[in-house]
Amino acid sequence: MAVTTQPKLDAQRIRADFAYLEELVNGKPFAYLDSAVSTQKPRQVLDAMREFYEHSYTNVHRSVYRLAERATEGFEGARQKVAAFVNAPSEREVIFTRSSTEALNLVAYAWGLDNLGKGDLVVVTELEHHSNFVPWQYVAKRTGATFRHIPIDDQGELQLDVLDSLAREGTVKVVANNLVSNSLGTINPVEKLAAWAHEQGAIMVVDAAQAAPHRPIDVQALGCDFLAFSSHKMCGPSGVGALWGRRELLEEMSPFNLGGEMIRSVSIDKTTWNELPYKFEAGTPAIAEAYGFGVAIDYISEIGLEAIERHEQELVTYAMGRLAGLDWVTVYGPPADRRAGIVSFNVDGVHPHDVSQLLDWEGIAVRGGHHCTQPLMTRLGVSATTRASFYVYTIPEEVDRLVDGLHKVKKSLG
Ligand SMILES: Cc1ncc(COP(=O)(O)O)c(C=O)c1O
Repeated sequence: MAVTTQPKLDAQRIRADFAYLEELVNGKPFAYLDSAVSTQKPRQVLDAMREFYEHSYTNVHRSVYRLAERATEGFEGARQKVAAFVNAPSEREVIFTRSSTEALNLVAYAWGLDNLGKGDLVVVTELEHHSNFVPWQYVAKRTGATFRHIPIDDQGELQLDVLDSLAREGTVKVVANNLVSNSLGTINPVEKLAAWAHEQGAIMVVDAAQAAPHRPIDVQALGCDFLAFSSHKMCGPSGVGALWGRRELLEEMSPFNLGGEMIRSVSIDKTTWNELPYKFEAGTPAIAEAYGFGVAIDYISEIGLEAIERHEQELVTYAMGRLAGLDWVTVYGPPADRRAGIVSFNVDGVHPHDVSQLLDWEGIAVRGGHHCTQPLMTRLGVSATTRASFYVYTIPEEVDRLVDGLHKVKKSLG
């Protein structure tokens, strides 16, 4: 039988693309273990954006001179890359937003305000980032819909056995869930939830902010209706993100922001809307940033999303194994084989802010806080955790340094 070996990611080679990883912090090599908050940017993306600003930049979709056509080609080329990246049936279904947060607000406002009312249920989960929680809570309140959540079990995984009882409470109209939890790394059963949502006649909204940078995404295979993600978490610039939406739904929806570019015609009495995707892109977009987003997609696609997923799986397995040896550290969430490259933990008796401060002295960047998931923190019975998160440039030696650093934290404060 032929044995096929999957190509491995070469993190050491990749590190050379990231300037900051070559710098010393406190005289020590910098270990950036906070990629879930935002990733570092490779030279390829930064160089391409500079080149674009210098030689291809003006506003898009407005003028017919050569430079304007080049700028529009760069911007629309990026849209095609985003569409292909998530296997969207058409690039017209891809809307550039400022971020995942804006993409999720767009759906909550533009779909929710017109389609929700008394007797309807909006279902989120206890694992959601505030960006996929608060907009739904707010729009449910404004429309009179009921806001419910799917709880998690002690391993940080969704308890899907509540679905039948939720369905008895009213007409389920929205199910909103992240594909990967930013606090626990839990990989959620979005396909199952999408199938259930559609059985109820509901839409399925997927927050892929922590999934799109780390694993292959196929909106058609997921069976969802909307999917949101941000460029800055996948080697691209901040200030731009994407919403993919099912065409029929986007066509029916009212606009979210109003102004230039999103109109077809305006008179004193009446305004009509532009076609997709421009109906949802009012004003001057983040042009060079969208271009850079496309270059970042090329960059991580060249590394390979399967290779990235495997690399992070190896790192998280290693990290959880090492942390399991520290009986004064509590790790939250599912076992390594059911999570992405994110580990949240607490050191007995030490606040996560102090943990991250002391680790900073060791040249290690981790995040201490509630990670914009306060309902989850309440469920875990803590106010905050320390979170280490991995990406293409993370190496096992950095996990070792994290563990050594935690020993020092314990010695100083534990
Ligand atoms: C799961 C998840 N959803 C949404 C967001 C919001 O992303 P952004 O700040 O890019 O809008 C984040 C950011 O950390 C996240 O981790």
